[in-house]
Amino acid sequence: MSYPYQIRSIEEYQQAWRDSVTDPEGFWANIADHFYWRKKWDKVLDWNFRDPEIKWFQGAKLNITENCLDRHLGTLGNQPAIIWEPNDPEEHHRVITYRDLYNKVCQFANVLKNNGVKKGDRVCIYMGMIPELAIAVLACARIGAIHSVVFGGFSAQSIADRIQDAQCNVVITCDGAFRGAKDIPLKSVIDDALMACPSVKRVIVCTRTRTPVSMLKGRDVWWEDEIKKVETMGNPACPAEEMDAEDMLFILYTSGSTGKPKGVVHTCGGYMVYSNYTFVNTFQYQPREVYFCTADIGWITGHSYIVYGPLSAGATTLMFEGVPTYPDAGRFWDIVDKFRVNILYTAPTAIRSLMSFGLGPVNHKDLSSITKLGSVGEPINEEAWHWFKDHIGKGKAPIVDTWWQTETGGIMITPIAGITPEKPGFATLPLPGIQPILVDENGKEVEGNGVNGNLCIKFPWPGMLRTTYGDHERCRKTYFSTYDNLYFTGDGCTRDEDGYYRITGRVDDVLNVSGHRIGTAEVENAINMHHGVVESAVVGYPHDIKGQGIYAFVILEKQTHDQELTRKDILQTVSRIIGPIAKPDKIQFVSGVPKTRSGKIMRRILRKIAEGDAENLGDTSTLLDPGVVDDIKQGRL
Ligand code: PRX
Repeated sequence: MSYPYQIRSIEEYQQAWRDSVTDPEGFWANIADHFYWRKKWDKVLDWNFRDPEIKWFQGAKLNITENCLDRHLGTLGNQPAIIWEPNDPEEHHRVITYRDLYNKVCQFANVLKNNGVKKGDRVCIYMGMIPELAIAVLACARIGAIHSVVFGGFSAQSIADRIQDAQCNVVITCDGAFRGAKDIPLKSVIDDALMACPSVKRVIVCTRTRTPVSMLKGRDVWWEDEIKKVETMGNPACPAEEMDAEDMLFILYTSGSTGKPKGVVHTCGGYMVYSNYTFVNTFQYQPREVYFCTADIGWITGHSYIVYGPLSAGATTLMFEGVPTYPDAGRFWDIVDKFRVNILYTAPTAIRSLMSFGLGPVNHKDLSSITKLGSVGEPINEEAWHWFKDHIGKGKAPIVDTWWQTETGGIMITPIAGITPEKPGFATLPLPGIQPILVDENGKEVEGNGVNGNLCIKFPWPGMLRTTYGDHERCRKTYFSTYDNLYFTGDGCTRDEDGYYRITGRVDDVLNVSGHRIGTAEVENAINMHHGVVESAVVGYPHDIKGQGIYAFVILEKQTHDQELTRKDILQTVSRIIGPIAKPDKIQFVSGVPKTRSGKIMRRILRKIAEGDAENLGDTSTLLDPGVVDDIKQGRL
C-alpha cells in the first residue's frame, strides 16, 4: 500500500499544516479520498462547539472493516496483519495474514449475528490480549454493533457500571487471561458483574487459560462451539453492514473529575480517517515494517494504534499478551529481536520500570531492526527519554512523544518521526488539522512563545469525540463549557521559544498512574465504601516508576488498633470497586482534612504535603481548622 498523504519533509509538514488551517474541509477531503467508501460524503464538515455538534463526511457510507480488511486482500492477502506473541515465551507465536484475519472476522461476525446481535447493539468485550480480542472488535464493526471494550484489569463492579450505562446485550470474554505469572479469571469476574446486568442475554466465552468456569444455561456459549456452528452453515463470508459516517463505531469509558467514568463515543468515518492518517504520518510507516505497540486494546491506544490505524494502513501489527517484566525484564527486547521489530510504541512508565533493571537485560539483544520509537500516555521525563534514545534506539532512531487522549481518538501533538527536530520531554508540534491554543484561567488566549496555559483546541478534527454515551450534556459541560468555543483538554501546557509544546500534566482532579487515567473522586468513592471510613481525600504525588502515585488521606470512624489490617482492607475495597490499578500507594490515617469554611476539601494543600513540599503551603488562613494541617504534616508517609 502506498500513502500519498504521507508527509516526507519538514517543509511538507509546514505546508500541510497551513493548508489544514486555511482549508480544513479541502485538506481532509483529499485524505479521505484514499479510503474505500460505499458512497462519498455530501458535506465534509458541519460543526459548532456550543451544543456541541460535530459531523464529518456527512452522507458518506462505509464500513471501517472493508478498509481494514477487504481492500487489502488483493495486494496484501498473504502479508501478516497480526503477529501475536503469547505471555509464555515457550508457547508458539501466531502469524495471522490479512486473508486469515478477514476470514476469522467474517466467521465471528456470523457468530454474532447467529446470537442475535444487530446493528446498533452495544457489545461489551472483556478479554485478554489474544488475537480473538482484535477479531471480536472487528466483527462488531463488521455488522455495525457498537463495541465497548473494558480493560481486563477492571473489577466486576466497574464492568457492571459500564454495561449498565451502555445497556449492552452481549458480552464477549475469555475463561481467563495470562498476564505475567498471573492467571486472571475473566469469566468469573463477568459472572459477578452480570448479577447486576439484566440487559445481557448472551455471553460468548473464548478458551484461553482452561480455568474452570461455570457456564449458565441459556446465557453462556463457547466461542469455539459457535464457530463450528457457522462453519457447517456454508457461506463463510459476512457482508459488511453499510454504516453512515456518523454512526457510532465504539464507546470507550474513561475517567474524569467526577466519580463516574464517561463513555466516550467515536464514529465510523472521521475516526477511520484520523487514526489512519496519524498512524501513517507520525510513525512514517513503510510497507512491510513490523510495528509493535505495547498497549492493551482495552485502552484507546490499543483501539487506534494496534487495531484500526495499522490495519486500515495494511501494516503488520504485533500484539503481545504479556507484561514487560515476564519472564524477565528483557522481554520487550527479545520480542524486538525475534520479529525484527521496526517501530516500537510504548509508555514512559514501562521505560522507567525497565530502566530500573539496568542494562543487563538489554545488552546482547539485537535491536538493530528498530528505526523508530514512540512514547504515549504521560509526560516522559528526560532521563527516560535519553535512556530510550541511547540504549534502545542506539542514538539513531527518532522518538515520537505523542500527546493525545481517549477523547481525541488519535495523536494530536507529536514529532513526525525523523522529520520534526526533536527535543526531550516535548510533544513538539501539532499534526496537520490540529489547532492548539493556550488560554489562561479566564479563557483569554495566551499568545506568543515562552508561555504557559491550559491546552485547548479551537477547530474540530475528524477523530474527536462526538458525545458521551447517553449524556450529551455531560460532554458539553466537561469539554466545551469551560472556555467559549473551545475544546478543553484538561491538560496544562508550555509553549517554548521555538513554539514547541510540552504537556505538563492534568489541571483537573484526574491522576495519571502508569499512563492510566484515574479520577480522584472515583478512588475516594471506593475508599468511602469501606465501612470504617468516614471521609477520604485522594491526590497524586510524583512516583519514580508510575509517574504519579496515589496518596490517600483517610479519616476513620474510630481509632483502629490494627492500622495495617485496615490499610489492607481499604486496598481490597478499592480493588473490588474499581480494580487493582486504582489501589493507593500510600494511605495516611488522619483526624481531619483541611477544608474551606464552605466545606470544600483544600486539595492544593494536601497535594503539597503529599509531594513533600509542606513548607510552601501558601495561604491557609481561610481554613476551617488550620490545626489539622500540622497533624497531617507530621504524619506524612
Ligand atoms: O494528561 C495527558 C496524558 O494522558 C491524558 C490522556 O489519557 P488517556 O485518555 O487515558 O489517553 C492516554 C493515551 C492517549 C492526557 O490528557 N498524556 C497522554 N499522552 C501524553 C500525555 N501527557 C504528556 N505527554 C504525552 N505524550
